[in-house]
Amino acid sequence: MTLIALLPGDGIGPEVIAEARRVLEALDLGLVFEKAPVGGAAYRAAGHPLPPATLDLARRAEAILFGAVGDPECDRLERALRPEQAILGLRKELGLFANLRPARLFPGLEDASALKPEVAGAIDMVIVRELNGDVYFGEKGMRTTAGGLREGYDLMSYNEAEVRRIAHAGFRTAEARRGRLCSVDKANVLETSQLWRDVVIEVSAEYPDIELTHMYVDNAAMQLVRNPGQFDVIVTGNLFGDILSDQASMCAGSIGMLPSAALNAEAKGLYEPIHGSAPDIAGQGRANPCATILSAAMMLRHTLDRAEAADRIENAVTAALKAGARTPDLGGTLSTAAMGEAVLARL
Ligand code: NAI
Ligand code: MG
Repeated sequence: MTLIALLPGDGIGPEVIAEARRVLEALDLGLVFEKAPVGGAAYRAAGHPLPPATLDLARRAEAILFGAVGDPECDRLERALRPEQAILGLRKELGLFANLRPARLFPGLEDASALKPEVAGAIDMVIVRELNGDVYFGEKGMRTTAGGLREGYDLMSYNEAEVRRIAHAGFRTAEARRGRLCSVDKANVLETSQLWRDVVIEVSAEYPDIELTHMYVDNAAMQLVRNPGQFDVIVTGNLFGDILSDQASMCAGSIGMLPSAALNAEAKGLYEPIHGSAPDIAGQGRANPCATILSAAMMLRHTLDRAEAADRIENAVTAALKAGARTPDLGGTLSTAAMGEAVLARL
């Protein structure tokens, strides 16, 4: 028996998780699903975005399939109670430091990309984003300056052990692909980035066959639009990776297409679409479930060792898209459930 924690969360989270679950169940892999509330839904039900029972389930399960958290009605809560703390808490509590975010253009989606078709067609990359450090987890607060002005601050920091382990994840990902790693930083102005670059270069000695390059994040943002085909694997910090992967998603057609894996040292993982809870379309059946369905495929591949089942899901998504199945974000009219059906029909 393989226990999967289903954490649907808020907004479109439950809608897209339902479709991924249907696809997994259709494969008959002997998975057992247990559901728990997280985010705003958990705050309403239990007074905390990551209640102990939910964290306990996440620890017990072999893998976690996560929807999204975020609820406009919770925006004025104190920070520790806000829905987004749930995903930050899970990443930290389970030591999920390596975030793999593949971005590629599925056949037939050239017209959905924000880029010219010939440029978009070349996208086939993985962004390896560090998840446990950086400005997200540093000391933060509000204070008043001597001049009486309100001032917010967030400390950005990385230690060398944190950089070393994500650098290894980046090199190993490149080894399994086309052998090219681009480390993205802002070493011209940031001390964290200088350390980042030094440590990545140290680690590169262990991977003589990998071609390592470095790029400043502002240039990387530009190159991603100008010529995304130049990238194989990008390794970068938490903040830069967050921004660059959203950007990469639009190059690849839609944010509704991009899956992700967050792994710890034991390759236990939390799998989730890169998008958020999309309150603007929640409850309307307009969400594209593909990113979550593809996250389920990544779960089968990376944590559950079921590569052939992962292939089946990815091929079914490709076939459905080829046949013209599209949700509104891709210029189509299918509902979330109908898109799920279209994938199921091609399993
Ligand atoms: P978002 O990713 O939720 O939405 C951005 C835009 O993309 C919206 O117009 C939305 O309708 C569209 N979109 C997103 N996913 C889609 C899908 N599957 N199909 C079709 N269209 C889709 O980002 P936003 O609006 O900045 O944040 C909304 C909430 O989600 C906030 O509370 C934010 O903090 C939270 N969030 C949570 C994340 C997580 O749970 N890992 C990640 C990012 C944001
Ligand atoms: Mg983001």
